Amino acid sequence: MTHRNRRRGWRKDYTDAGIFGDWGGWRGKRDMLLNVMHTVKAIYPGTFDPLTNGHLDLIARGAKIVDELVVAILRNSDKGTPLFSVPEREEMIFEATREFGNVSVMTFDGLLVEFARQQGAKAVLRGIRAISDYEYEFQMAMMNRKLDPELETLFMMPAEKYTYVSSRLIKGVFQLGGDVTALVPPLVVERLKAKVPNRRG
Ligand code: PNS
Repeated sequence: MTHRNRRRGWRKDYTDAGIFGDWGGWRGKRDMLLNVMHTVKAIYPGTFDPLTNGHLDLIARGAKIVDELVVAILRNSDKGTPLFSVPEREEMIFEATREFGNVSVMTFDGLLVEFARQQGAKAVLRGIRAISDYEYEFQMAMMNRKLDPELETLFMMPAEKYTYVSSRLIKGVFQLGGDVTALVPPLVVERLKAKVPNRRG
């Protein structure tokens, strides 16, 4: 049962039990109740060039604790020429996250806090793999807090087996003929093979 279906199930139980009593029609009262329910939407931003199993692990963890998770690809990254176009990255993430009922994929440019505000998101999700990630992530979180004190940053750690995995290393290793099949989703391996056809995947 998907996350959304589970929530629908909750509503049905309560409406069937007559919780709305003398308030009149249950539909209107149900909507009143849902309006005051606390739902949390979070943004998981990044360049995702390409998506790795570490990213996917974090998406799975995030999707368990928030109601809605938006994976947001930065369009105007300053990381140099990307291997995959933004639409290609969007497609890969969309396919790899199909199984999650509460995960969507979007793109953005400009300030992350502005995008989060437009989306009505309360939090930004970021992964910390090792101490070396901490300083950069801390600076970003503090800057985002300065820009929007209402927006919280949630840090989560991926599974240990992915702590050394990064998109940059995946591209480098694959381009030199290394095997990355355990480190990225199979559809990403296929896309890598199509981009770098003469190397062993
Ligand atoms: O995958 P990355 O490169 O670690 O993701 C970095 C990202 C996209 C989260 C960061 O560069 C970002 O939020 N850029 C948007 C511009 C912005 O808001 N800058 C101010 C925050 S320091």
